[in-house]
Formats: sequence, C-alpha cells, structure tokens
Amino acid sequence: MHLWKKIGVVGVALALMLTTVACGSSDSGSDEGKGEQVTIVYARGKDDTGSTEKLIEAFEKKHPNIKVKFKEMPTDTGVSHDQYVTMLSAQSSEIDVFDMDVIWPAEFAQAGYVQDLDRFIQRDNIDMSKYIPGAVEAGNFNGKQWAMPRFIDAGLLYYRKDIVKDPPKTWDELIDLAKKHKGEKGTKSGFLMQAAQYEGLVCNFIEFAGSYGGRILDEKGNVVINSPETVKGLEKMIEVVKSGAVPGNILAIKEPETHQMYKEGESVLARNWPYMFAILQNPDESKVVDKVGVAPLPKGDKESAAALGGWMIGINKYSKHKEEAWELVKFLSGPEGQKISALHSHSPTYLPTYDDPEVQKANPLYADENFVKGVSAAIPRPVSPEYPKISEIIQVEVSKALAGKQSAKEAVKNMEKQLKEVVK
Ligand code: GLC
Repeated sequence: MHLWKKIGVVGVALALMLTTVACGSSDSGSDEGKGEQVTIVYARGKDDTGSTEKLIEAFEKKHPNIKVKFKEMPTDTGVSHDQYVTMLSAQSSEIDVFDMDVIWPAEFAQAGYVQDLDRFIQRDNIDMSKYIPGAVEAGNFNGKQWAMPRFIDAGLLYYRKDIVKDPPKTWDELIDLAKKHKGEKGTKSGFLMQAAQYEGLVCNFIEFAGSYGGRILDEKGNVVINSPETVKGLEKMIEVVKSGAVPGNILAIKEPETHQMYKEGESVLARNWPYMFAILQNPDESKVVDKVGVAPLPKGDKESAAALGGWMIGINKYSKHKEEAWELVKFLSGPEGQKISALHSHSPTYLPTYDDPEVQKANPLYADENFVKGVSAAIPRPVSPEYPKISEIIQVEVSKALAGKQSAKEAVKNMEKQLKEVVK
C-alpha cells in the first residue's frame, strides 16, 4: 500500500488567525425555556495546542444563550477513560458533552453511558458522507451513531531537516540514522516513541506489527495476532527500544514527554500524532521552528503502517441539557469547529476542511491529498465493547517483551490465548 509522499515542511509559520465566526442568535431549543441562559459542561483531556479555548469562544459567540464550562480531564486516555466510567456508571449529570477516544464509543454505547445521535443527525441534515469513513465507523455501534468524529490521528515520523537529509524509509534505516546522528546539534537521543505501559503503547505496537503485515484481528473479528509477521514487528520494536538510540527511560515515555523533549531540540527523530506539528511551529515554546519535516512511519518488510487514533464527541445520556449539548457537538464536529481545530494541527475528519486555503497554509500536510489517503488507510484498533480488556492484554504482554522478560514469540502466543478468551 502506498501512503503519502514524504513532505519537507519548509518555513511555514502556523497561521493561528481564526476567521470571525458569524454571530447569530441561537437556534437551539432549551430544556429550560427559550432565551434563558444555560450552562453546559464540556470535558476533554488536557489540550496542549490551545484550540479548546478558541473553540469555546467561537461557539459562545454564535450561541449567546449557551455558556460552556470546560472540564479538563487527564491527558492519558486510559486514566481519562476510567474517570468517565466512574462518573457515568453513577449516572452523573456533571458533564454534558465530552470527547471520546475512537476506542470508547462501542463500550460506552453498550453500557448506556451515551445518547445516540441519530435523531439529531437526521433532523439537522448532517451529511455523514462528508466525513472520513473510518472515523464515522468508530462512533457507530449496533447500527446507531453514538458519537460524531472530531479529529483523526495517525502515527507520523518527525525528523530534523537540519540534521538528516532524508527521513528513514525502514526501521533498520531509522536505527542507523538515529544512532549516527544522536548528539548532533544538541540532541540527546536519536529517536522518541511511546513505550510506556498505556494505550499509546498499543498504537506503537500496531504500527510495528502492521509494517510487517501483522494484525490483531482480521476483518471478521477473528484473533490473528499469532503470526510470523506480528512476531517480526515486535522483534523490531524490541530492537529499537534496546538500540541505544532512544532515551534510557523510553519505557516511561508517552506523548507529552515526546513533544516536550522534541520541541526542546532533544531528539533527531520522533514518532507522534499530527498535533505535535503545531507545537513545534510555535516560536513561543519551540526551539525547532522550521527545522522539522514530517514523513510516513518507516516500513518493516511490507509497508508503512500508521495506527488510527483520534477523538469523537458525544453527549452524556444523563445530561439535563441535551439540545444545547447537541449544538456544541454539532459545532465542534462541523465545518466551523473543525477548521479551528485544524488551524491547531488537529487533522480534520470533515473532508471539505482540507480544501480550505487557510487550513492548508497553517499546516502544509493538509494540502497533500496523500496525507488524507494515508490517515484514511490507518489501521484501526478493534471496535468492541470489550476493548479495555483487549488493550490491557496487549499493554501487559508487549511491556514484558520490551523489558526483556519474555521473547516476542512468547508475547504473541500469550496475547493470542488471552485475546481468544475475550473475543469469542
Ligand atoms: C491519541 C489518539 C488516541 C490514542 C491515544 C493513545 O490521543 O488520538 O486515539 O488512543 O493517543 O495515547
């Protein structure tokens, strides 16, 4: 499979100027009577790109009778997940609207935590065919849409253009380049990835395995993890971790540590999601403005494989302000909200946003149609109400392999056995 071309991102400052959003009277109904001001609570994880404030500001301007109170949740998706489960299983109405990782909607729908959105989607003629299909599917379970797509994530390789001429095409090249250039221009390591025991590890593992053709489940949902391809992928992942090209504490590194170190100029290469691009281009916080290029992740012996990530948005089943909540969901997942997010490097799921010249200027990746093809071809994690169990099994077994406590073969065999018990 051919993913998008390598792109050297040259000297393009991130234009964070937002278009003025037309100010109009609210067309939303209110559970508490028209005209009265309603406050809704919107929860999402810590946002290091600064887009949330801009989004809320633009929404409130458009809907003067709806105030949005922001509730910041932890950055780690697993930790956030558990807090939502505690809140929602107690039928709390403390939050109205919240962002959901692509791996949550099936579970939350099955548990009855979220409102299905079909009646709103139909009533307001939302054209779902304008969204990236994989992102829509992540919010669909048992034939109903439980969450609207906000932004899509796919793993990318970031490289220092002032240190390496061309980004590595294979994992072997990556190891060589990382070792060779580590230490140049003040760097302390050659490569950064997310290898701590948490959800991000599952994504990194899917990418290594996928680059050799390995998968967790097949299209019918059968467990196919125990294959020579997955073993090769995990072996390569172990090799990278032990190569000396990554920091000594790689088994504790998640996304925030990755962008913190990378923006300080501490590494030659890094694997991260698209959001990091905006941070790197921000002169107030980055030492590597204009020095970073973005490319597809390296290949194994098969292809470049990116894990599908991203965030959806939905309504708490126990919200007392469902109409107002829907207005916020509609705004954030619709053209205006997606544009604001895109200007902060969150990749749109609403396809027309990619054609907007301002968006293309803010992040040149978005002007490349191969980028859109690449994210659309990213490998999804299993869509299942049992996903937390699936993830836990992978996290534990892959971590043991990376820590040298078992071989890649043993890890894959152990995952197969346990996953077969969960996925019946
Ligand atoms: C990003 C992705 C999300 C993934 C998480 C793992 O937030 O969008 O899907 O689960 O990273 O850390």
